[in-house]
Amino acid sequence: MNADQPIVDLRSDTVTFPTEAMLERMQRAPLGDDSRDGDPTVRALEDRGGTLTGKESALFVPSGTMGNLLAMLAHAERGMDVFADSSAHLLNSELGSVVTIAGLVPNPMPGHRGAMKEAALTEAIQASARPGLIAMETTHNGAGGAVLPLSHMERIHALGQTSGVPVHLDGARLFNASIALGVPPAHIAAHADSVMFCLSKGLSAPVGSLLCGRAEFIARARGLRKLVGGNLRQAGIVAAAGLVALETMVERLREDHAAARRLAAALTWLDPALAEPHHVETNILRIDLSASPHDAAAWADGVKPHGILVQASGPRQLRLVTHRHIDDAAVRRTIRAFAAVGGRPRPVDPATD
Ligand SMILES: Cc1ncc(COP(=O)(O)O)c(C=O)c1O
Repeated sequence: MNADQPIVDLRSDTVTFPTEAMLERMQRAPLGDDSRDGDPTVRALEDRGGTLTGKESALFVPSGTMGNLLAMLAHAERGMDVFADSSAHLLNSELGSVVTIAGLVPNPMPGHRGAMKEAALTEAIQASARPGLIAMETTHNGAGGAVLPLSHMERIHALGQTSGVPVHLDGARLFNASIALGVPPAHIAAHADSVMFCLSKGLSAPVGSLLCGRAEFIARARGLRKLVGGNLRQAGIVAAAGLVALETMVERLREDHAAARRLAAALTWLDPALAEPHHVETNILRIDLSASPHDAAAWADGVKPHGILVQASGPRQLRLVTHRHIDDAAVRRTIRAFAAVGGRPRPVDPATD
């Protein structure tokens, strides 16, 4: 690896640094004690989040995990069932908070590309003595950044309404879904009672997520945020970056989606066992290695000396996530590194070669 070249970090879009405009706004943000009299910059961000998602109210939280946790606590009671796609972030990476803090019983549902099988969900709700919450996720991390079809979301929301079960949307990457679908985020969030979205992923803010919903639900979540130690003080410093994220970073997400497609196309050309480009809808590329001679650790360790970081998600799956720091040069270097590890004689990039 050339020591002058920066590391190409494709492990997650959470590695993005704040922009110059964010740092500048952070320095001059009007501040207050958010847990006492309120912080004007946090309030401005919450207003903006509520407007963008078409919800009455919003709450600034330190992380997406806390936003999802507060949604569970505010919507459901201990001992109730929560229904989500079996590969949902909530039931995998956040299972601890589902079970031990919210006290909900996880009901993993079979799904296809992140969309729960509707018949199975209907049956499970009917069979449940205490249905508490239905949780959807878009874009879907475990399903390689898949975007839930709006018609599916609409039917799930209708099912929730007819069964009296609230519907929460884990929209950590809601704006990626909005760009991919070509609709405003409110059109997606309309199919859920509450939505959480993250500012700290592709939108590049350093910290923070927003939980949005009806005013009464958000008031309850606000009280619960204190309970879990999530009340912040001069949080306007980070909320300022969140405002800049919403103002300036949404449209450019389409560049991340294009970079992910380009990577997928090149890797498939390199080795058809590596990727399915038609499955890349947003900025996440999950590579199924079942047909590859190398396992995930071998690929990750192999490209590392070339300055490329990718995430091994299990023994036979790699995850690559594109973001603001993955420019054309980074894409080309990644392709060259994969070519070297895969034993290809020369660097390849069908998009440019
Ligand atoms: C779909 C999804 N939901 C929730 C989260 C949790 O967000 P945070 O890392 O801010 O807690 C993530 C993080 O990667 C995610 O991908």
